[in-house]
Amino acid sequence: MERSDKPGWGTFVKRDGFGDDRDFPTPDFALLRLDPPHKEGGRICEKDGNHMDLGISGRKAIVCGASAGLGRATAAALAADGATVWLAARGADRLAATAADIRARTGATVHGVVADVTTEAGRAAVLAACPDPDILVNNAGGPPAGDFRNWSREDWIKAVDGNMLSAIFLIKATLDGMIARKFGRVVNITSFLVKAPGAGMGLSNGARSGLTGFVGGLAREVAAHNVTLNNLLPGQFDTDRLRALQSGAAARAGRDVATVRDGAMKAIPAGRFGAADEFGAACAFLCSANAGFITGQNIVIDGGQFPGLL
Ligand SMILES: NC(=O)c1ccc[n+]([C@@H]2O[C@H](COP(=O)([O-])OP(=O)(O)OC[C@H]3O[C@@H](n4cnc5c(N)ncnc54)[C@H](OP(=O)(O)O)[C@@H]3O)[C@@H](O)[C@H]2O)c1
Repeated sequence: MERSDKPGWGTFVKRDGFGDDRDFPTPDFALLRLDPPHKEGGRICEKDGNHMDLGISGRKAIVCGASAGLGRATAAALAADGATVWLAARGADRLAATAADIRARTGATVHGVVADVTTEAGRAAVLAACPDPDILVNNAGGPPAGDFRNWSREDWIKAVDGNMLSAIFLIKATLDGMIARKFGRVVNITSFLVKAPGAGMGLSNGARSGLTGFVGGLAREVAAHNVTLNNLLPGQFDTDRLRALQSGAAARAGRDVATVRDGAMKAIPAGRFGAADEFGAACAFLCSANAGFITGQNIVIDGGQFPGLL
C-alpha cells in the first residue's frame, strides 16, 4: 500500500480482485479497520479507538443472508458494537465459519441459524432462536435476470417469496415486540434497481418494489414507538453475487470477465466497486440508537451511480 497525495484520500489499496489487480483510492475512514482486504471485497469490522458508539450494545439482532457479502458485513458491524447477533443462511459450513470468524474478531456473542428465510420453516427456525430481536436485517439472494416472456407464475411466486414476503413475514413476527419495548430497527437490503429499474431484471424490480411500498406505509404507522423501518439499496458491491453476475454476463457476451468488470466500474463515479464493509457500516448506523429519526427511507449506496437527485 502507498499513500496518495490527493487531498482527502488515504491509501491506495491493492485488491486481490477478480483477474484485475487494480489499485483503488480509498478514503481514510474506510481504512480504519482494514485487515486485510477480504476476499469478497469487504473488510470485517473490529472494535477500535476510532469507532462511533452506535448505542446498541446488548441489543439482539437477526441478520438474514449473513454468511457472505452484504449480510455478513452488516452482522460484523453490529457485533463490533456489542450487539448479540443471530446469522441466518442456508449453507451450514460457511455459516459456521462466518459466525466463528465474527465472534473471534469482535468478542460478541454470535449464533448461526441454518435456514432458508424464504420458507416458512426457515423463518420459524430463525424466530425460535431469537423470538424478540431489537434489530432485524432482511436479506436473501436476488432473483435471476431474464426475459419476462419466459417467467411462469412459479417464477414470480419464488421472486415475491424471496424478496418481498420473506421480509414482510419476519417483520410481522417481530414488530409488535419492538413496539412494546420502545426500540426497533428494521433494515431491508433491497437494490438500486428499486430506484433505477434495469432491463431484464423484472423479477427483482417487481418484488423489491412491492416490499418498498409496504414498508413505506408501515414505517409511518409505527414511528411513534421508536421503531424504524428503512431500505438500503446497494449499487455494485464486490461480493460473490456481483462476481457471479459478471461471470454470467461475460460468458453470454463471449467476453472476458476483466473487461466486463472494467466496463461496470466505469459507470460508477467513485471509480470502484463498493466494499461490503462500507455497506455494513451504513446498515449498522441505521440500526443504531442515533438513527431513530430516520424512517421510511430508501437509501442508495452506490458510489454516485444513480444519476438522479432524489
Ligand atoms: N452485491 C451487489 O452489488 C448487490 C447489488 C444490488 C442488490 N444486491 C442484493 O443484495 C442482497 C445480498 O447480496 P450479496 O451481494 O451480499 O450476495 P452474496 O454475496 O451472494 O451473499 C448472499 C448471502 O445470503 C445468503 N442467502 C441467500 N439466499 C438465502 C436464503 N434464501 N435464506 C437465507 N440466506 C440466504 C447466502 O448464503 P447461503 O447461500 O448459504 O444461503 C449468503 O450468505 C441480494 O438480494 C442481492 O440481490 C446486491
